Amino acid sequence: MGQRLKDRVAIVTGAGSVGEGWGNGKAAAALYAREGAQVMCVDRDLAAAQETVSLIEAEGGAAFAHQTDVGKPSELKSMVEACIARHGRIDILHNNVGIEDVSPLEDLTEANWDRVHDINLKSVVFACKFVMPHMRAQKRGAIVNISSVASIRWGGVPYYSYYSSKAALNQLTRVIARKYARDGVRANVILPGLIDTPHVRTQIPGDAQQQAAVIADRNRRCPMGFMGSPWDIANAALFLVSDEARYITGAELVVDGGVTL
Ligand SMILES: NC(=O)c1ccc[n+]([C@@H]2O[C@H](COP(=O)([O-])OP(=O)(O)OC[C@H]3O[C@@H](n4cnc5c(N)ncnc54)[C@H](O)[C@@H]3O)[C@@H](O)[C@H]2O)c1
Repeated sequence: MGQRLKDRVAIVTGAGSVGEGWGNGKAAAALYAREGAQVMCVDRDLAAAQETVSLIEAEGGAAFAHQTDVGKPSELKSMVEACIARHGRIDILHNNVGIEDVSPLEDLTEANWDRVHDINLKSVVFACKFVMPHMRAQKRGAIVNISSVASIRWGGVPYYSYYSSKAALNQLTRVIARKYARDGVRANVILPGLIDTPHVRTQIPGDAQQQAAVIADRNRRCPMGFMGSPWDIANAALFLVSDEARYITGAELVVDGGVTL
């Protein structure tokens, strides 16, 4: 176990994964715990959050699971209250949950547009709202938001609400960083490129051969020749929430193996 986050309390949303293996939030939760943080693993799927907690505890780390649908501000409020009741502080807020809706413009519905913005954007602003009084009182806090390179580039897929919500998330992060800089609260945003997560694999239709072709195509599209792993995103997040990044706030960190070059 490392010491970079010793005595820190971290909330990670979307800390489970939708299939076997490691997603971005799950890897971040595990890495924070490996560096000494006590991690609140938040997910709307309690069993998925509990699995992450079991993995962390098996490595000797400290974590607990909490069920929250981040699309509901009232549940985010309860999430923060539960963390404070248990630990009395919150040092790290890692907003990882993000969803997409792949609808051509012609088929876009108001409900789908609102749902994606509720989950990808409204969730983050309300999570920040509820943790901020605690971080300000502590005079210390680090927020990491998980955006996407889709916030700054066309990604080949017409998911309008995803592009829009992730772009807004970048600017939201900058505004929070600027507003709370004097309070010792830092906020940064990570823009992952093509990452090999269970979510991505469950989205690929077809048989094993067709799926292998899609994976090979995703690897080919990366200048480095391979998709990133959730640990690449987790390592970037670990840096940003650690004291090594104490003078970094309002930054957009692209972690994409060169996709946006
Ligand atoms: N995988 C990629 O290639 C890629 C690329 C760019 C950005 N991202 C971003 O990374 C983040 C995580 O992606 P992933 O593929 O690891 O995640 P994922 O889709 O596997 O989800 C992780 C967890 O989030 C939970 N979740 C979903 N909706 C929730 C809600 N409303 N409330 C609480 N929990 C909820 C799921 O139950 C799951 O356990 C997202 O923000 C995504 O936009 C991923």
